Amino acid sequence: MDYFTVPHENTAAALVAWYRENARELPWRKDVTPYRVWVSEIMLQQTRVEAVKPYYHRFLATFPDVFSLACADDELLHKMWEGLGYYNRVRNMKKCAQRVVAEFDGQFPKEPAVLQTLPGIGSYTAGAVAAIAYGVPAPAVDGNVLRVLARLTDCNADISQTAVRKDAEKTIMQIIPRDAVSAFTQSLFELGAMICLPGSDAKCDRCPVAAYCLAKKNTTSALLPVHSAKPERKKEQKTVFLLREDGMYLLHKRPDKGLLAGLWEFPNVNGHIDEAQAIVQARKWGFDPLRVQSLPTAVHIFTHKEWHMQAFLMDGNFTAALNGVKADVREMKEVYALPSAFAAYRSIACGED
Ligand code: ADE
Repeated sequence: MDYFTVPHENTAAALVAWYRENARELPWRKDVTPYRVWVSEIMLQQTRVEAVKPYYHRFLATFPDVFSLACADDELLHKMWEGLGYYNRVRNMKKCAQRVVAEFDGQFPKEPAVLQTLPGIGSYTAGAVAAIAYGVPAPAVDGNVLRVLARLTDCNADISQTAVRKDAEKTIMQIIPRDAVSAFTQSLFELGAMICLPGSDAKCDRCPVAAYCLAKKNTTSALLPVHSAKPERKKEQKTVFLLREDGMYLLHKRPDKGLLAGLWEFPNVNGHIDEAQAIVQARKWGFDPLRVQSLPTAVHIFTHKEWHMQAFLMDGNFTAALNGVKADVREMKEVYALPSAFAAYRSIACGED
């Protein structure tokens, strides 16, 4: 089924010309290699360009090529990703690097279908690496591209549907200029990020393809793209413990599977419990609290759930073998990967509040 009509025949050339004049200087647009493009595309999947930049530089300084990533230390890898979220991305990156080293002599394959057999590489990433790094015509359709395409063609199909995304890929393949594959691919990202903004923020007066845009003509751009409402996020209550002895805090390692797998956390329990219950809980963990303070509440929003946290800071003594490690402020900052969900409490622990 065709959801998208083919955009005007001048669209691609106008986008490429605009991109060549107006592209932002971004770190992954310099010294283009498949490895550098792949790292950037994985980072950019759930994270804004400005937030990615410092991570990108640090990651490449630590793991400059696919060989160094293939034998990365897991703790260091998590630390490099701390704060970016969706940690499966980086675990898959290491697995992918190992496969590229073992099966492809360290060279990322060129063909999108082969790229897609690698861990963490789906249709979008395969298309982006093939098109940007190798100039191989392939569709890289993310949310920005869907918005641009839905508006250019005034398409009100639901972009959360797989069939609609597949049709978007087909439409991109029909218009991608064979002599400007990389520039065209990136022009769509750039237009989506800078001009064709969501809702009623689109900057149509500065758009290089406004003349060909059917949503502009029909004044429908603020309504596009259409996507079905997501289910509401589940709210969970947590009580978090900052257990401190001589300036060291107890950190616990999360299980190898599930949310924030294998990362470090402040010990915590489900539900909001009162101070007396919290003291009982701390004793169960082998900690004898001498002084207890209640800390401000904090909320962390994941894709599918929200944590509503309350917390206690307890000074006292560890009296039993620990399930976890004791970390000082430097180690919390430099060694252990503590996900952003605990950032508010880490700031308090580190005296940054
Ligand atoms: N978003 C996704 N990929 C991107 C890229 N290569 N440049 C800028 N924004 C992007």
